[in-house]
Amino acid sequence: MQKRLSVAIASVLVLSFGGAAIAAEKADATAYAEEIISMRSSLAKTFVLPGAEVNEDTFKKVCGAVGKKVKEINEKGDVKIRHAATKYRNPVNAATPEEAAVIERFAKEPDLKEVSGTFEKDGKKFSRYTRPIYVESACLACHGEKDARPAFIKAKYPDDRAYGFKTGDLRGIISVVTPTE
Ligand code: HEC
Repeated sequence: MQKRLSVAIASVLVLSFGGAAIAAEKADATAYAEEIISMRSSLAKTFVLPGAEVNEDTFKKVCGAVGKKVKEINEKGDVKIRHAATKYRNPVNAATPEEAAVIERFAKEPDLKEVSGTFEKDGKKFSRYTRPIYVESACLACHGEKDARPAFIKAKYPDDRAYGFKTGDLRGIISVVTPTE
């Protein structure tokens, strides 16, 4: 909440200097990234309980629910959110060379909180806002030891690379792309 407030204050300051559109976009992108990252974190803490079985139903309430939320946002408007990882589970989330470069930056600079940039595609301009996603203890039930992964994951993701993580490891990035004109 506090972060959002400071983002709002920061954007008001930038707005008063004339960067209206860019400031508003950045504030939106920041809020989306924050929402998705904290949603996954709190769902994992809520539904991965010590001693309880972790299965496909747990997934539907954690990363599955996050995927659904992202899809809803993407279908609703111009903002396009995506997850990317070099150690991915779902191949659609495999990092492009550009995303892999951003992931490498976050890996090398642990204090780096965000990376923003702009790009052009088919003659249109876009801004891209990315944030790192870190592994917490509640993630390890599904992204920890290879052999300890729930059976449905072993069966459903034969090319899975998203295991072997430890608490605090960089898991991947969330990227929020917004058209700028
Ligand atoms: C109950 C199992 C489970 C838990 C707990 C879990 N995940 Fe996942 N996660 C998955 C599965 C399965 C996928 C693949 C989803 C798909 O097919 O799109 C996934 C996908 C992801 C992705 C998308 C990138 C990729 O590799 O495809 C990220 C990022 C991610 N998880 C991060 C986390 C983090 C961070 C936590 C803890 C806060 C966490 N997960 C907890 C099962 C889980």
